[in-house]
Amino acid sequence: MKRYAALTGTGAFVPERVLTNFDLEEMVDTSDEWIRRRTGIVERHIADDDIASSDLGIEAARAAIKMSGIDPLEIELIIASTITPDMFFPSTACVIQSRIEAMNAGAFDLAAACAGFSYALHVADGLIRSGAHRTILVVATETLSKIVDWTDRTTCVLFGDAAGAAILQTSEEPRGILSSYVAADGVAGDASVLGLPAGGSRFPATQETIQNRMHFIKMRGQEVFKIGVRVMAEAALIALEKAGLQPSDIDLFIPHQANTRIIEAVGDRLTIAHERIYINVDKYGNTSSATTIVALDAAIRAGQVGEGDKILLVSFGGGFTWAGTVIQL
Ligand code: UT7
Repeated sequence: MKRYAALTGTGAFVPERVLTNFDLEEMVDTSDEWIRRRTGIVERHIADDDIASSDLGIEAARAAIKMSGIDPLEIELIIASTITPDMFFPSTACVIQSRIEAMNAGAFDLAAACAGFSYALHVADGLIRSGAHRTILVVATETLSKIVDWTDRTTCVLFGDAAGAAILQTSEEPRGILSSYVAADGVAGDASVLGLPAGGSRFPATQETIQNRMHFIKMRGQEVFKIGVRVMAEAALIALEKAGLQPSDIDLFIPHQANTRIIEAVGDRLTIAHERIYINVDKYGNTSSATTIVALDAAIRAGQVGEGDKILLVSFGGGFTWAGTVIQL
């Protein structure tokens, strides 16, 4: 029997508190004009101090479960994509499992930075196609505000907090994930280009790592920018080819939301019309692996895409990792 991983529910959640570019002008030497012109970002949402990634992920998961109409006990596996887990262990996926009472599910975290949602879809698709599982919850949840250096203007203006979730279920109809592609380059993407150097086994927390501000995101933006444009366009074309489709077959293109200049450059390379490219980086900033699923959920709930429509997701981030997914609703 041929099986497909159908997308039967999506959900998203962002914390209420908004931090505008004007708020940032009060915190570091920056300007609303610089941030808008260089990134397209206008505002981002920031979690309160007592909120962790699982708290956002649970809300997104509940919304996805509700849309799909399943009982949480039907979920067989939970994959949580995050670079801001609540703690090293237990995994954020296990925390979510307990809070949504999905007690029949296995649970693990997946670390592929901004490409994590598409990576998780890749894993879920393989497990559903193979017959290993029938119902999988994928959650992408990030509280980047917790690992951003609020004194570093080159990074702190870029990121925000959000979560998205998707329910994938076995279908005999050819719908859901039509193709997926994942890639990585650990040579070009070492931690000095984009990463969070300390807090793991290489540099456990010491007074020195704290003094040297090594527990915060470091990024050499221009290098990341150039590679991002190239590999996101590549991932899009490979995912399309695997699905036997052309860019013109796509109803909605949802690229990783890091920077409108990157999004437009990728769109131009793919010759996808601007009106078919989803952009919400202005409202949320870069929320790492949550960006594409937050956008997809919003597009579905707004009726911008519906049954039968084909959507292309591509993302890129630390590692480097990048990935593309073609979904038919
Ligand atoms: O999700 C993971 C993937 N991440 C990305 O995709 C991010 C990729 N990179 C980018 O989006 C862009 O490189 C940035 C938005 C991070 C930076 O834009 P840029 O056009 O590459 O600027 P730049 O780094 O070349 O900096 C230009 C100038 C510099 O000043 P000088 O050296 O020309 O005097 C910076 O010091 O802008 C300065 N600058 C700022 N000025 C005001 C850097 N950050 C700021 C700031 N406000 N926040």
